[in-house]
Amino acid sequence: MITFKVENYQLRRQQLVQQVKGGLILLLGNVDSPFNSADNCYRFRQDSSFLYFCGLDQPGLAVLLDVDSGREILFGKQQGLDDVVWSGPQPTLQNKAERIGMADVAPVSDLKNLLFASIAAGRTVHYLPTCRAENKIMLGGLLGKSIANVDKDVSLSLIKAVVSLRSIKGEAEIAELETAADLGYQLHIAAMRMAREGVYEWEIDGELEAVAARAGRMLSFPPIVTIHGETLHNHQRNHQLQDGNLLLVDCGAESYLHYASDHTRTVPVGGKFSPRQREVYQVVLTVMARARELIRPGIAYLDVHLAACRILVEGLQSLGLMSGDVDHAVAAGAHALFMPHGLGHMLGLDVHDMEDLGEDEVGYDGKILRSTQFGLSGLRLGRELQEGFVLTVEPGIYFIPQLIEQWKAEGRHAEFINYAKLSEYFDFGGIRLEDDFLVTKEGSRLLGRPIPLQVDEIENRTGFFLTTF
Ligand code: GLY
Ligand code: MN
Ligand code: MN
Repeated sequence: MITFKVENYQLRRQQLVQQVKGGLILLLGNVDSPFNSADNCYRFRQDSSFLYFCGLDQPGLAVLLDVDSGREILFGKQQGLDDVVWSGPQPTLQNKAERIGMADVAPVSDLKNLLFASIAAGRTVHYLPTCRAENKIMLGGLLGKSIANVDKDVSLSLIKAVVSLRSIKGEAEIAELETAADLGYQLHIAAMRMAREGVYEWEIDGELEAVAARAGRMLSFPPIVTIHGETLHNHQRNHQLQDGNLLLVDCGAESYLHYASDHTRTVPVGGKFSPRQREVYQVVLTVMARARELIRPGIAYLDVHLAACRILVEGLQSLGLMSGDVDHAVAAGAHALFMPHGLGHMLGLDVHDMEDLGEDEVGYDGKILRSTQFGLSGLRLGRELQEGFVLTVEPGIYFIPQLIEQWKAEGRHAEFINYAKLSEYFDFGGIRLEDDFLVTKEGSRLLGRPIPLQVDEIENRTGFFLTTF
């Protein structure tokens, strides 16, 4: 059992209980999820909030925190001889509880009765939203609710408390995020070396899985490995690379304690950018540099996003693809034709950190609200930054033929977009670049070993797979 120090978990639970006013807090761990039969399951991944407060990385556990009495109980199943025979010996439930600084344990079969009795006595049971179907069903049974009501009755005060705690990364968490980002470096170097004519996208995808598996880790999300980077989350992976293509790889790894990295690089197959690719790439680089320069506590990430978009428009103007007043173009959302997504998101135990608790609960704060404008509505993080936040910066430029055709037919933002020139870019694809940053007292710090980013660094690392292995 690898965990943080016991004091970390005790402190986190104390802080949680202080922020939730009264009642019981139910933290449900994940169970094994079947792949095609009950004994054939997907690789286990623990619930991230359960990991944060309870650290135990095994299926079938739950924790109940009594806000009023301070009592904490770990629920689980004691291992039987059959489990030992098939799965090997496990620490006892008591050992697990000690590991995270809890005194009391109980069989998971007791949980329902205890919760029903508490509800009957008028006590509130706070619980978090969950994206897992098994957990929704389990919560329905434990609380006597329909699935619809399970979703509806989640505790907003618990969500807010969890988000406030998990948003600020402590020293030990930052060390984990660094190791995740360092493995991200290995992933991207492996992918760059394979960016040669004749290689299939799935071969690179397989190598990414292998790099993580050889390090005893997991990937933090299904990688995007594509020569059609204009599709933002392209998971097809069935194309064969050809010289002249741009290969977009968006992938990340987990640390041992399941903290995530999330990096994107876009490289020329064969190792040399064409002049046109280099021009567009340079624009994305300047956008990224501007965003990074602005990150500091107190600035709203919405404002970083908008400032980055202004640099994007200036760059697209220099290529002859946009024109007109830069501020007006950004205010109108004209640039979203080229970058129809936000600048980044929080990163932590989840790649889109805490988003199963509600995207707006994590990325917005009531003072800054999510826009409904095309493109800006995809900004996952808009709120004011604080020291200790960890986030991604991931600008891109994409040429999406169907989107361009539609906007052109509608004459949309025709005063800002040079549709005639754009017709030359239908075969371009897309470029995205992405790095992970910690917000520090003065500004920001890149996490992990820097992955080649500048044009010369990329060209020197790309396309050497067959000669170097
Ligand atoms: N990996 C998906 C993203 O960059 O948000
Ligand atoms: Mn990414
Ligand atoms: Mn990302």
